[in-house]
Amino acid sequence: MSAQDEIKRLTAPDIFARKGGEPIVCLTSYHAHTARLVDKHCDVILVGDSLGMVMHGFETTVPVTLDMMILQGHAVMRGSKRALVVVDMPFGSYEASKEQAFMNAARVLKETGCGAIKVEGGTRMAETIAFLVERGVPVMAHVGLTPQSINTIGSFRAQGREEAGWARIEADALAVAKAGAFSVVIEAVAEPLARKLTAAVAIPTIGIGASVACDGQILVMEDMLGLTPLVPKFVKRYGDLGPGIEKAVADYAAEVRARTFPGPEHVYPMKGKKV
Ligand code: KIV
Repeated sequence: MSAQDEIKRLTAPDIFARKGGEPIVCLTSYHAHTARLVDKHCDVILVGDSLGMVMHGFETTVPVTLDMMILQGHAVMRGSKRALVVVDMPFGSYEASKEQAFMNAARVLKETGCGAIKVEGGTRMAETIAFLVERGVPVMAHVGLTPQSINTIGSFRAQGREEAGWARIEADALAVAKAGAFSVVIEAVAEPLARKLTAAVAIPTIGIGASVACDGQILVMEDMLGLTPLVPKFVKRYGDLGPGIEKAVADYAAEVRARTFPGPEHVYPMKGKKV
């Protein structure tokens, strides 16, 4: 491959520069093989801490550890070439102090090779975000519904449904933008508020359940593929892979039980091409 053919990976500044421009396509991925598929179509791959619920079956994202995020972040980097890979900082890895946040964010950047990290929280995280950005850590922020706060907010309900709650979320978005975040995820807020936030901040807003009035969108991949049993109401299913997988497994099980499972003569040489 010549130097010209090499695929240049998108960076946090590239995504920042897309404010108000072509919509930014983001999706989660936790594995090398799905990252390879997502990479062809998306600008940002988020290794979200939603992996705790999606891959591991936890009820919330709270039990997710830094080591889990690093392992999957590394896998996604191996599977992708072009998209900016952002790795979520899990609950407990960044809130205690800005120094704790830097030490753990530096570990994530060094050990995965990803291009940015994401932290939840607005005004309360602004000082930490500024500290990280000043020290070379690109930060995607996350306001509105912040799932890591489940034990204090009580449920995964939409935020800012009443106009009275808008000011706090707007202050959060403005604070993270001022602190130097290169983009901000806005989760589960009503369209008029998403529109207001997108107009108010100079960084791209990435919506999840926050209407089209954002600079980009993100979904949890397994949710939009129909692979998770329970999804938020706003999720559109672009695929329904569950029944396909179940049928393939059932066909395989039937062949094994009927002793019609193909022998080695059907298996070697390897089929397909190396990816
Ligand atoms: O963890 C995650 O997947 C996320 C997205 C839902 C934005 O934070």
